[in-house]
Amino acid sequence: MKPRTIAGGIALLAAASLLIIAVVWAGAQAAGSQPERIVLCPTADPTTGAYVTWRGGADVTDASAQIALDNGTPAIGNDARTIAATPNVLQVGTSSYKHFSAALTGLQPDTAYAYRVANGTKWSEWFTFRTASTRPKPFRFLYFGDEQNSIGTLCSRVVRQAFAMAPDARLKLHAGDQTNAASNDTEWGEWFMTAGFLNASTLVVPAIGNHQYERSVPGSDTRRLTSHWQAQFELPRNGVAGVEESSYYFDFQGVRFVVLNSMEKIVEQTVWLDTLLTGNPNRWTVVMFHHPIFSGARNRDNAEIRKQWKPIFDSHRVDLVLCGHDHVYGRSNPESGPAAGHTVYVVSVTGSKQYEAGDRKWAARFGQDLQLFQVISVDGDRLRFEARTADGSLYDRFEMVKRGRTVRFSPDTKLGPERLRSK
Ligand SMILES: [Fe+2]
Repeated sequence: MKPRTIAGGIALLAAASLLIIAVVWAGAQAAGSQPERIVLCPTADPTTGAYVTWRGGADVTDASAQIALDNGTPAIGNDARTIAATPNVLQVGTSSYKHFSAALTGLQPDTAYAYRVANGTKWSEWFTFRTASTRPKPFRFLYFGDEQNSIGTLCSRVVRQAFAMAPDARLKLHAGDQTNAASNDTEWGEWFMTAGFLNASTLVVPAIGNHQYERSVPGSDTRRLTSHWQAQFELPRNGVAGVEESSYYFDFQGVRFVVLNSMEKIVEQTVWLDTLLTGNPNRWTVVMFHHPIFSGARNRDNAEIRKQWKPIFDSHRVDLVLCGHDHVYGRSNPESGPAAGHTVYVVSVTGSKQYEAGDRKWAARFGQDLQLFQVISVDGDRLRFEARTADGSLYDRFEMVKRGRTVRFSPDTKLGPERLRSK
């Protein structure tokens, strides 16, 4: 081969290589990044649908989800239905991301489904979940207090312990302050990491906390909900106008779950809640929000929220009110003490931040310097509640049995001593 021909050959080879690299690169760009932060949330009717939300790069132009009956075979996707996703651009510093949401609707009640999501041609694994039954049917759910601090390092083991003890839990309730800084994307990344595939295969039910709010502009006294909330979670828009997706409700197998926003539009939510619980056909009612009606931490009291919402809980005989914010554990006895009535009030904490105790006369069971998760079982007329510490040890337990409008409340009286901070 003549030298000139060799040089020409090398140039041709180099050009071809560049072309291949360019094609591969363009293909990779079009394919998008692997879906991350995948989270399944309830629609207003969990018997026929669920929302799924996930994150991709700003360059993703065609995101979608696929859903099929879970037939337990590798051919799971043969009859899958493809659903286009809606993007929501979220700016994080100098980077921007797209959070995609797809409504998995038109499903059959009490049926196992498999779904996956894609950024372009980059698909997630198949996840499975079961739609709710239209009738009351036994199920369990998890409830977590504030994660907020040491989310990745110390909360992940709590979530994993909860999964080990209740792998069949259908819902995962979070009572607010999931992160410490409202729009800290690294903290949100940790929060999604702690639950991994659990977020994609149980219905995640989040309430906002004060730490999901930030100054509207630096130095301003007005605060607004972080843009991360709306981007990362798709939730029922059946609450109060102006606090959509932070006040919402849905019914699940005999239980009405109501999530309230304890930061804004308190009076409006009072009116809405009163209407919502009038004629509620469910056997049980569980309400969750961040700031507790009865506080357990020093120098804390949410008098306005108590004044507005407690009469509604009383008049509609709400069974359980689940809160966070105080970084202690507290649980009332509906038959005695300052919180007596029908409702059982609970404050709990999952993260590492722990507070000094305040006036805790309202709490029949109290605890400090604990990381906790709660497993709640509903079976017809019977509701069982367990609070467990990060190592799985039982810390609190009670049972409620409903006969007509009468409830028999039975706390476990054989528990060990309360864990209190030594002065
Ligand atoms: Fe808080």
